[in-house]
Amino acid sequence: MNKLKYSVAAIALFGSQLIFAQAHDISVDVKKTGAPIQKTMYGIFFEDINYGADGGLYAEMIKNRSFEFPQSLLGWTTFGKVEVRTDEAPFPKNPRYVRLAYPGHKEKRTGLDNEGFFGISVKENAEYRFSVWARVPENDNSEIRVELIDPASNIFASQKIAINSKDWKKYQVILKSPRTEAKARIRIFLASDNSVDLEHISMFPTDTWKGRENGLRKDLAQALYDLHPGVFRFPGGCIVEGTDVDTRYQWKNTVGSVENRPLNENRWEYTFPHRFFPDYFQSYGMGFYELFQLSEDIGAEPLPVLNVGMICQYQNKGEACQIAVKDLDPYIQDALDLIEFANGDTGTKWGKVRADMGHPAPFHLRMMAIGNEQWGKMYPERLEPFIKAIRAKHPEIKIIGSAGPNPDGKDFDYGWAEMKRLKADLVDEHYYRNPEWFLGNAARYDNYDRKGPKVFAGEYACHPKNRKNNFESALAEAAFMTGFERNADVVYMCTYAPLFTHIDGWQWKPDMIWFDNLRSVRSVNYYVQQLYGMHVGTNVLKTQENKLPLTGQNGIYASSAIDKNKNEIYLKIANTSDAAQKVTYTFKGLKKGERKGTHTVLKSDNMNAENTLDNPFAVVPETEKITLTNNVFEVKLAPKTFNLYVIEL
Ligand code: AHR
Repeated sequence: MNKLKYSVAAIALFGSQLIFAQAHDISVDVKKTGAPIQKTMYGIFFEDINYGADGGLYAEMIKNRSFEFPQSLLGWTTFGKVEVRTDEAPFPKNPRYVRLAYPGHKEKRTGLDNEGFFGISVKENAEYRFSVWARVPENDNSEIRVELIDPASNIFASQKIAINSKDWKKYQVILKSPRTEAKARIRIFLASDNSVDLEHISMFPTDTWKGRENGLRKDLAQALYDLHPGVFRFPGGCIVEGTDVDTRYQWKNTVGSVENRPLNENRWEYTFPHRFFPDYFQSYGMGFYELFQLSEDIGAEPLPVLNVGMICQYQNKGEACQIAVKDLDPYIQDALDLIEFANGDTGTKWGKVRADMGHPAPFHLRMMAIGNEQWGKMYPERLEPFIKAIRAKHPEIKIIGSAGPNPDGKDFDYGWAEMKRLKADLVDEHYYRNPEWFLGNAARYDNYDRKGPKVFAGEYACHPKNRKNNFESALAEAAFMTGFERNADVVYMCTYAPLFTHIDGWQWKPDMIWFDNLRSVRSVNYYVQQLYGMHVGTNVLKTQENKLPLTGQNGIYASSAIDKNKNEIYLKIANTSDAAQKVTYTFKGLKKGERKGTHTVLKSDNMNAENTLDNPFAVVPETEKITLTNNVFEVKLAPKTFNLYVIEL
């Protein structure tokens, strides 16, 4: 390190404190642009953990809507004569339904309440579409009454539904809520002497993302859209693997009519003894069709992760727990069929399923991950036949392999070597590490093999001691991510993890977006992802001081990119030190003249500052206009800041 360059060069006065500023001369080569940056560079990773799907992004408000939880009435309270039955069920993969019968006396009542996911939460003047499959088993007509009730059992919205057929039919009604109520319940009364059978009892806000009936929560989907993600990895994570072979994620169970998608036990139900949720199941109402559709909506490349014939290795030790290599054919077929589901002509078996669901056009699947977080020799043994089969039939599909759960060590090195041998296109690395690790690893990819598979940082997040989504972790991620950008010739994609968490149902933190049933908040870490996602650029610009990249010298981390389509330059620079620092950027190959731009800063005096549901904007980016007068640009970086300069060319 050139001592002169990093010697104290200026003294700045901030308030009453003397702060020593360092001086940096950074050159940015605009003439000779560097490696192309993939459009997929900054993306998102969705998994149903922390009630991210049912009870979260998936806007269904009724828990256990088909009575298929192992305890068939979990989430429901019944009164009068309610019986769970399976004969003459309308949906064979969800065979249970309930019969509501005359309670035996005209003053008595029959019915049932649902508690929703941590309550049923409704907003003043909002409308909710209640729907139910029903029939009258013994007569021609019956009637039910649907009510929203508050915690004190007061009814505040009510509607009647006449059930008028012996055959199963779908009925629906709109309930308008006159008030906001966070912890309501829904109650269904038998309002006739005649019995009625009910199945798939469902309620959604009418105002879902894009107004879809089997829709997503609008604020949460909007938050994804606003990230400008380049890639969308789904559906996990460990849930791809499952707790056992039966509970692994099987995409074929998640498509077709929503009423006939079989329930699955969520792998996260059992994981954390301190946060055990015995009612954590996957309705699969937001299945692969909806996830592909969401990718399309938010402009991200879909990236499905498929089971490689391995069950969660943390929960299942040893070869005997895994699927034998000789038995892999159905798993491989699932991968091939998924390509047909996403891209196939509507005349093909799976292309037709997609078309029948409402999307005749292909979803343009270009890549898939085989295996989530796998390690040891059992993994390449299983991955190899997948690669052979996919390459033979679909050479156009890029295949992503796993480097295991850690960013270094024996398993990681072995995993990488095996991925090279198998010629995986990309390798998925995961790291959940402390701020020191992130700050110390910004140069991680500077010396990676340029000829091998590309890197997909498929799960990463900075975990501070208190495991909060605080400013400290966000700043460390922002600094570290300059290393992604600088190495865009080898790092093709990255996705922060996990994405969502319900404030009443979290198991794992930190997470990018927190929510309760009525509100959501974008963490400080979200804004780092958004700043990168909105300023990807088309090519890297060589950014150096004293011929070296800026990877933490005096706490400075920097990288730059150019967007040749938008004619803009993006300078990203983090000052993680406690001192203000003066930086002089000199642009090589930039004509002199006045240029306009913006400076966006993410800052806080408090490293522990966080955005919460009650204080959602504690730390958000602040933007000001700037003007450059020539090809030398001087900036003063405040301490503990992440800065983005956008310069119009
Ligand atoms: O993101 C949470 C979990 O972390 C993922 O499911 C898993 O892949 C990793 O262990």
